[in-house]
Amino acid sequence: MANYEEIFKKVVSHCKEYGFIFQSSEIYDGLAAAYDYGPNGVELKNNIKDYWWKSMVNMNENIVGLDSAIFMHPKTWKASGHIDAFNDPLIDNKDSKKRYRADVLIEDYISKIEAKIEKDCVKAAKRFGDEFNKNEFTSTNGRVLERKKQINSINEILITSLSSGDLERVKSLIEELDIKCPISGTNNWTDVRQFNLMFKTQVGATAEGATDLYLRPETAQGIFVNFLNVQKTSRMKLPFGIAQVGKAFRNEIVARQFIFRMREFEQMEMQFFVRPGEEIKWYNYWRKSRINWHKSLGIAEEKYRFHDHENLAHYANAATDIEFRFPFGFKELEGIHSRTDFDLKAHQEYSGKKIKYFDPEINDSYVPYVVETSLGLDRMFLTILADSFKEEILDSGDTRIFLKIPHILAPIKVAILPLTKKDGMPEKARKIMQSLQLKFNCQYEEKDSIGKRYRRHDAIGTPFCITIDHVTLEDNTVTLRNRDTMIQERVSLNKMEEIISENLNISKYLQIKA
Ligand code: GAP
Repeated sequence: MANYEEIFKKVVSHCKEYGFIFQSSEIYDGLAAAYDYGPNGVELKNNIKDYWWKSMVNMNENIVGLDSAIFMHPKTWKASGHIDAFNDPLIDNKDSKKRYRADVLIEDYISKIEAKIEKDCVKAAKRFGDEFNKNEFTSTNGRVLERKKQINSINEILITSLSSGDLERVKSLIEELDIKCPISGTNNWTDVRQFNLMFKTQVGATAEGATDLYLRPETAQGIFVNFLNVQKTSRMKLPFGIAQVGKAFRNEIVARQFIFRMREFEQMEMQFFVRPGEEIKWYNYWRKSRINWHKSLGIAEEKYRFHDHENLAHYANAATDIEFRFPFGFKELEGIHSRTDFDLKAHQEYSGKKIKYFDPEINDSYVPYVVETSLGLDRMFLTILADSFKEEILDSGDTRIFLKIPHILAPIKVAILPLTKKDGMPEKARKIMQSLQLKFNCQYEEKDSIGKRYRRHDAIGTPFCITIDHVTLEDNTVTLRNRDTMIQERVSLNKMEEIISENLNISKYLQIKA
């Protein structure tokens, strides 16, 4: 059994080999932390967006969409706090000259302790067999409790020192834990200092007349500044939400783990505006709703967990992350934050324009409170790929690699494969292609043996392969091959659309009753 690191390496090279993801500007040796999505990647990415948009916007009468500009008035970022406080604490190793995020070094150290707890569990499970109860073990075993205590104490120091801006304490924590640079192997560190993550650029023809602009580091602010525009033009009543999918940019210093942390990425965000005092009710609602959305895709539940924030950002009164078990450990996939009225009030103050909602039910005006759901599209993409990558040994001894992508997200839904290039099979196959291609994303292929073509489609996660043979020409039936079971059955062409549609029905995924 390959370990997680090996699997992750395989996933990364699979992405390139099968046209999901390429390194940006590869012919110039690439640009760090920027990636391009290839033909299969863009289909998968669009399908994830679509699944999110349909469940968020189309399924909720009180959520509407927006596509705001990446460039915003520079005061936006003063109001939101990004100019003053959107910083990462950086530290350099004097020997390797490598730069790290101080908090990430410490979090990695914590991940190693968590991995030790997992190992303890695996050992105990072997020892106790069926009797083993993980919850009981982790809440009573002395060694595990000791490790948990250590994690809590490190976390507490990290959070309090970061939130109070005590960077010296962050450095001394790194020293106390004897964290070493992975390159030089030494603990010869510089002081920790803050670094702003926003990319700055200029607009204007001449240097004198130029204005500093920032590439947006989150899509949320485009929603906040449009609150009244959207509320008024859509005639929305509270509670209601505004959803948006778009690019965000952060000058991440430690950009690693493939598309997990990039400098240019996409977010799928929704800001839900509520009456003050009702935000915790809605926060709990969205916390549940979002985890259900993730589960709707059929990924094992134990791969998700919540990480409730104990030390909250100054603008939040509740916050959690939905974490996914990536091949490199549990990491944030989506954030759900109760952001109070911080953002709207700040924009009101900096713009000098009133941002209030008149609530006809209580006959009063107020600045709404906001609950935010913020999912990284690229991280969701990585979640799907990492979870769906499967290697299995067949009875023949061959290894089959396939992507068990949820059907609704698969880049290609149907492969149309004439068994041979003669006897009228390609012509018949083209006709079938024409009848299906406007309903499903289909791919026609006649090159190579049928076995090779099946493998190619397994590798990109195509759920259905339709093979057209001599019998098709006689009785209008085809062979329908299932990606996951490899079972082939003879199916009438008249039934084909129904069978495929049944598997792509979004209501089934979201468990919506007719
Ligand atoms: N508006 C709230 C916000 O931006 P965040 O936790 O900074 O919150 C939200 O980001 C989500 O965006 C994260 O949960 C993650 O999925 C994604 N994300 C953040 N930084 C990223 C990066 N550098 N590369 C890829 N995805 C990122």
